[in-house]
Amino acid sequence: MQNDYMIVKEGGHSIALENGVFYNPKMKGLRDISVAFLKAAGAGGTTLLDSTSATGIRGIRYSDSGVAGLTFLDISEKASENTKRNVKRNNLEGISRVFNKSIQEFAHTREKFDIIDLDPFGSPMPYMNDIMKLSKGGTIMMVTATDTAVLCGAHPKACIKSYDSRPLHNELCKEVGIRILMGYAIRIAAKFNFGVDVLMVLSDMHYMRIFYRIRAGAENAVASMKEGGFGTYCNSCGSFGYSKGIAPVFQQACSNCGKRLEAFGPLYLGRLYDKRITGKILENLEDGNARKIIEVINDELDIPFFYNIPKITKLRRVGSASPAGIMSALGNAGHRCSPTQFSHSSIKTAAGIKAVEKALRSAKDFRLRAR
Ligand SMILES: C[S@@+](CC[C@H](N)C(=O)[O-])C[C@H]1O[C@@H](n2cnc3c(N)ncnc32)[C@H](O)[C@@H]1O
Repeated sequence: MQNDYMIVKEGGHSIALENGVFYNPKMKGLRDISVAFLKAAGAGGTTLLDSTSATGIRGIRYSDSGVAGLTFLDISEKASENTKRNVKRNNLEGISRVFNKSIQEFAHTREKFDIIDLDPFGSPMPYMNDIMKLSKGGTIMMVTATDTAVLCGAHPKACIKSYDSRPLHNELCKEVGIRILMGYAIRIAAKFNFGVDVLMVLSDMHYMRIFYRIRAGAENAVASMKEGGFGTYCNSCGSFGYSKGIAPVFQQACSNCGKRLEAFGPLYLGRLYDKRITGKILENLEDGNARKIIEVINDELDIPFFYNIPKITKLRRVGSASPAGIMSALGNAGHRCSPTQFSHSSIKTAAGIKAVEKALRSAKDFRLRAR
C-alpha cells in the first residue's frame, strides 16, 4: 500500500486515507462536537453503528467516548477495506466489526444499536426508514444532511418531493430547513411507533446535523407528531408566526401590517436543545470554531425563528443597526433575547415584531417610515 495512502491525525487517532475513499478535513470540527456530544450524553458501555464509515474516522473517534462495541458499514468495498485497516491501526479490533454492506441490506438483520451515526452524501432521507429498523427505545441518532440548498428552499419542488414540506427561501431558511429535516425524521420514527426527544441541532458551512433520542411507544410517537406544525412569514414587515399541531389553523394576514402571509411546513416546532447536554459538551471541547458554535447554542433562546436586523431595517428603509444594540435595547425594556447559531446578524426574542421595532427606534433613534 506504500504511496497509496496518506496519514492524518485527528483527535489523537492516526487515520490512513486511501485512494478513492471519502474524507473531508473541513468536517473535523463537526466530528469534535460529535465526540464531545457522546461523552456528554453518556455513551459509556454502549453499542454504536457508524453506518456510512468511509475511512472509519467517526467510529474510531467515537471510541474515545467509551463505547463498548463498534460496527462499521459501507457500501463501498474500498471504504470497508480502508476502515478495517484503520481499526487495526488504532488497536480497536477487539471491539469492532466491519461490514461491506449497504444500510438497506444490513437493516434486514434488525440488530439494535444504542447509537447510530448516519453521514451520507447529500440527503439522509433514503436511509431514514432503514436506520429505524436498527433502533430501539433509547437509541441516540446523529444524522447529517448536506442537501442544504434543498432544505433552505433553493429548489422548493425538491424539498416538497423529498421531505413532504414547503421550505422558505429567505433569512430564516437555515432554521426552517433544520426543522423540516427534524419534522421528517419524527414522521418516519412515528411509523415505527417511536417518539423522539430532540437533543441538539447544528447548522454550519454546507451541512445540517440533528441529534435525537428515540422513545418507544405509540403515545410518544403521537406526542412528537404534535410538536410539528406550520409557520408563516410576512414578506412585507419580516414578522413570523407558527401554529403547532397535526392540522393547525393559522392566520392568512399579518397581524402587524395586514399583508398576506407566506406559509411553510410542515416542520418541527418544539425544543431544539437539551441544555444539560449542550452545557456538558463545552467541558470536552477545546477553544476554536467548534467550541464557539456550542457556546452560541448554549446561550440561544430555544424558541422558533428570529429577527434578522439587516432585513428588518431594509424593509423599513432605515439605516443599519447592530444586533448587539437592538439586544441591549430589548434587554433594557425587560425582554429576553439572544444571538442564534442560524444567523450572526439576527436575534431571538419572544417579544414580537412591535417590541423589535421599538428597540430599533430607541437604539438608533430612527423614525420608522410608513410602509
Ligand atoms: C460522506 S461519506 C461518510 C464520511 C465519514 N462519515 C466521515 O466522517 O469521514 C458517505 C459514505 O457513505 C457510503 N455509502 C453510500 N451509500 C451507502 C449505503 N446505501 N449504505 C452504506 N454506505 C453507503 C459511501 O460509500 C461513503 O463512503
